[in-house]
Amino acid sequence: MYKDLEGSTAVITGASSGIGRAIALRFGQEKMNVVINYVSNEDKVNAIVRKIESFGGKAIGVYGDVTKEEDVKKLVAAAHHHFGSLEVMVNNAGIENEVPSEDLTLDNWRKVLDVNLTGAFLGCREAIDYMLEHRIKGRIINVSSVHERIPWPHFLHYAASKGGIKMMTETLALEFAPKGIRVNNLGPGAIDTPINAAKFSDPAAKAKVEALIPLGYIGKPEEIAAAAAWLASSESSYVTGITLFADGGMTKYPAFQGGQG
Ligand code: NAI
Repeated sequence: MYKDLEGSTAVITGASSGIGRAIALRFGQEKMNVVINYVSNEDKVNAIVRKIESFGGKAIGVYGDVTKEEDVKKLVAAAHHHFGSLEVMVNNAGIENEVPSEDLTLDNWRKVLDVNLTGAFLGCREAIDYMLEHRIKGRIINVSSVHERIPWPHFLHYAASKGGIKMMTETLALEFAPKGIRVNNLGPGAIDTPINAAKFSDPAAKAKVEALIPLGYIGKPEEIAAAAAWLASSESSYVTGITLFADGGMTKYPAFQGGQG
């Protein structure tokens, strides 16, 4: 636990499921105030709020589509209105779908770039604007992916969006370091969440993914949430502009593990 996080406020986008939900619960355990953004799974939000309260934190659920400027503004406004501040912004909302690149429609390309990259941009901009206005040395955490580094055939739009997040994070880190605002990426590997539910329900497909992970197992959302808590806390005070990969070693060329090459 990180004592300095207690009582500070975070907005987490796409937090009604998966990694966002796990980060919300972890921040609750840190006794933070959490704005749980959701666009679906509304029925699950109340349970997350209650769990956070049982940990000693505070939380509210706020509907909002991260591709809509007004909705993202409302998330920051909700943090201010309900909890009086905003110290941590987690841009987590994301979508993916598989399609060979020659069949990728412009609509599909735009939809994925819109949620994953433009949504994160809006979250960064609104949070930074608020932090500058209120002289807060805040922390921005963008949930990227190992696919900001590893090319991913059939997921061209997804890989492009995460590559974009990498450069956005690094640029913002440089731009706002003089104000004490830290901007970092969190790069999960293969994590057991709804985004992967179909793939991991097939044992053969799951085994293929596991073979790409030096630590040998699919990560748990809580393991990503632990990295998010560290990036949010003052224990990472000298860290800005990085991608913290929490990927079981997936970015370390596992095909070479046996000395091949
Ligand atoms: P998930 O599907 O459980 O979470 C994604 C969340 O984003 C959902 O709650 C969904 O409702 C929300 N969302 C989608 N469109 C939205 C919009 N327009 N506005 C607001 N929220 C929206 O899947 P998961 O795995 O928890 O994904 C979270 C993030 O982690 C994503 O950015 C994903 O790309 C990233 N990631 C996940 C990995 C994995 O293996 N699970 C690996 C690497 C990155």
